[in-house]
Order: sequence, then structure tokens, then C-alpha cells
Amino acid sequence: MKIVETRTLRKTYHFGDTEVEALGGVDLSIEKEEFIAVWGPSGSGKSTLCNLIGLLDSPTSGEVLIQGQSSGGLSDGERSELRNSSIGFVFQDFNLIPVLTAVENVMLPLQVSGVSKVEARERAEFLLEEVELKDRMGHRPQKMSGGQQQRVAIARALVTEPVLVLADEPTANLDTRNANLIIDLMRKINQDRGAAFLFCTHDDRLLDRVDRKVHLQDGEIIEDICETISAG
Ligand SMILES: Nc1ncnc2c1ncn2[C@@H]1O[C@H](COP(=O)(O)OP(=O)(O)OP(=O)(O)O)[C@@H](O)[C@H]1O
Ligand SMILES: [Mg+2]
Repeated sequence: MKIVETRTLRKTYHFGDTEVEALGGVDLSIEKEEFIAVWGPSGSGKSTLCNLIGLLDSPTSGEVLIQGQSSGGLSDGERSELRNSSIGFVFQDFNLIPVLTAVENVMLPLQVSGVSKVEARERAEFLLEEVELKDRMGHRPQKMSGGQQQRVAIARALVTEPVLVLADEPTANLDTRNANLIIDLMRKINQDRGAAFLFCTHDDRLLDRVDRKVHLQDGEIIEDICETISAG
């Protein structure tokens, strides 16, 4: 089943008199349980594509379908609902809320969607155990290492049980040991839970570990290579 489908997706940014065509008509389909990366040089449109697929921004033309549902004609509220129920996000700089503890950060997406505090806490604690941060639940982000913060962010992305996790440069701010830990963890979650992962990255440490690489250049897909890596 297709989790994501983009149809001739275009994005043009305007600032002042200049126009920048960030995406020039991208057609991309992502299937259930894929572990896939969009890569390409700086400015090639990776983050733009990620933001459009994540329904964080609207295309100039074309459309994004999430699990067969077109997002084009939706109201802001309906888009948020579709986003919150289908997609989890992981960012380069972790984006945790500094005044909240680890467990409170993970609870937040559930509370936004109306889950009770008791249930949200229970599910958040379960996820934090899964990312091996049981002993850090009450810590605030600034008391944690980068790798630990990114694991909290992964728990937060997963707590709503999304079909797709979108991660824009998730390993860029991590040393190699932590980058590998994070990649191992995401791969395990991909295999155990069947969540698809879409990375936007130019990090070879991550690119070497995905099943499919979509090469973006000047806002267009110039190559799409699928190779299933055997386990071990
Ligand atoms: N808000 C914006 N306003 C104007 N232009 C933008 C905006 N966001 C991105 N762009 C332009 O769109 C193009 C694609 O940018 P994008 O951020 O998607 O690239 P990227 O591949 O993610 O790059 P990087 O690897 O540096 O993160 C670039 O030319 C960029 O300057
Ligand atoms: Mg980017």
C-alpha cells in the first residue's frame, strides 16, 4: 500500500522580485515499511520536499496524498489532524521543548490529540524504555547528550504510532557513535513496528544503511535506486 504519493509536486519560493523554484515537479511514492533517503547537494530541495510531504507547507502546484487521501482540499484543521495521526517528525536539532522533561516532551503529541494525561504518560514511558532512556525520563533536554535528546525525539515521533516518520538530517549533529546508535534504533523500529522512514540527508553514515536512495538535484529526481540490504 502506498503511504505517500506526490503528484507533480512543485514549490516556488518568492522573495522580493526573485523566484526560486525549489521543486520542479516531483513524483514520488513511498510504500509501507520503506526505509528510504532523499539525498542531494545543499539547496537541491530535500527539506522543501520533506516539509511538503509532512504537510507543514503547501505546494505551489501538484499534490500530496497520505494513505490515498489527498491533502490538497483540506482545511488547516483537517490537515493538522491528518498530519498528527499519520506522521512523526525528527529534526536535525532535536527540537525538544526545553522546559519540559523527557517524558513530558514525548507525551505532548498525544495530549495535543486529546489523549488523557494518564494514558499519555503510560505510552510515553513505554516508548522511552524502548529507546533505552528509562533512567532519564525526568531529565530536561539540556541535561542530556545530543544522542539522548535525539532518542527522546524519536520516542516523541513514534508515540502516536504514525505510518511514516519523516526525518530531516537526523544524524547531522551527532558524532559517529551516536549517529550509528540512532540509525540502529530507527532500523529496529522500522522492522519491529513497520513504520516507514523517510530521511532527507547528505550523511553517508545514514545513506549507507537505507534500502532506497532518491537522488534530488535542482528540485528534480535524477535517480531512484532500490537495494534491499540483507540483515547483518
Ligand atoms: N523559505 C524560503 N524562502 C525562499 N527560498 C527558500 C526558502 N526555503 C528554501 N528556499 C530555497 O529553495 C531551495 C531548496 O531549499 P531546501 O532547503 O529545500 O534545500 P536542501 O536540499 O534541504 O538543502 P540543505 O542540504 O542545505 O538543507 C534553495 O535554493 C533555497 O534557497
Ligand atoms: Mg535541508
